[in-house]
Amino acid sequence: GLVASFVVAIDGPAGSGKSSVSKEVARRLGFGYLDTGAGYRAFALHSLSGAALPELLESFDYQISLNPDSQQVLLGERDITLDIRGEVAARAVSAIARDPEVRELQLRDARSRISTCTQSGIVVEGRDITTVVAPDAQVRILLTASESVRLARRGLEQTETAESLKARDASDSKVVEFFTPADGVALVDTSDLNFEQSVQAVIGLVEAAQNGR
Ligand code: DC
Repeated sequence: GLVASFVVAIDGPAGSGKSSVSKEVARRLGFGYLDTGAGYRAFALHSLSGAALPELLESFDYQISLNPDSQQVLLGERDITLDIRGEVAARAVSAIARDPEVRELQLRDARSRISTCTQSGIVVEGRDITTVVAPDAQVRILLTASESVRLARRGLEQTETAESLKARDASDSKVVEFFTPADGVALVDTSDLNFEQSVQAVIGLVEAAQNGR
């Protein structure tokens, strides 16, 4: 089982507001924060070295901070905090994320980071957290938003085009079904919520679970 005493698992598609909401919830609760997409993105950059998969799996040396206020990501000695957000990583990551051995590596990595988190709780976000990584989490949420809202938010947040977001959604959803909540997973649709309302919706679910409701 997982050691971090309280796990908030949040899944959702790109542009759902998942990352900014998860980070803010972690800040307000004094919890750690793990962005599992960063691990896939880091592996995508790692794979650009051109080595074969077994070698890539073997040599993947990746570190990420669990502090919601300092999201430093290292690949070996190299600081890739900014690089993982770039187009190069975004373009390579979906194919990488489809490989079962890569997913297995990321699964083990995420669980070990969760179990060594020293905070009283941790917010973990990704695509398969509620179903695969932490199905026993105290709070499990699928954060969604309509496609038009997600595209608009994406436009504000970064330079990913509509086509690349749609292509990535389509590709991602072949790996993990994250548009319908699994059994016991709460659906939070943020289409008509602003940032603060989205944060409050998640915190409300955490408080309900903490109060045993
Ligand atoms: O959340 P993100 O955009 O940083 O995710 C990057 C990619 O990694 C995305 O294509 C889906 C994949 N991913 C995944 O398959 N499972 C996760 N738990 C997290 C990310």
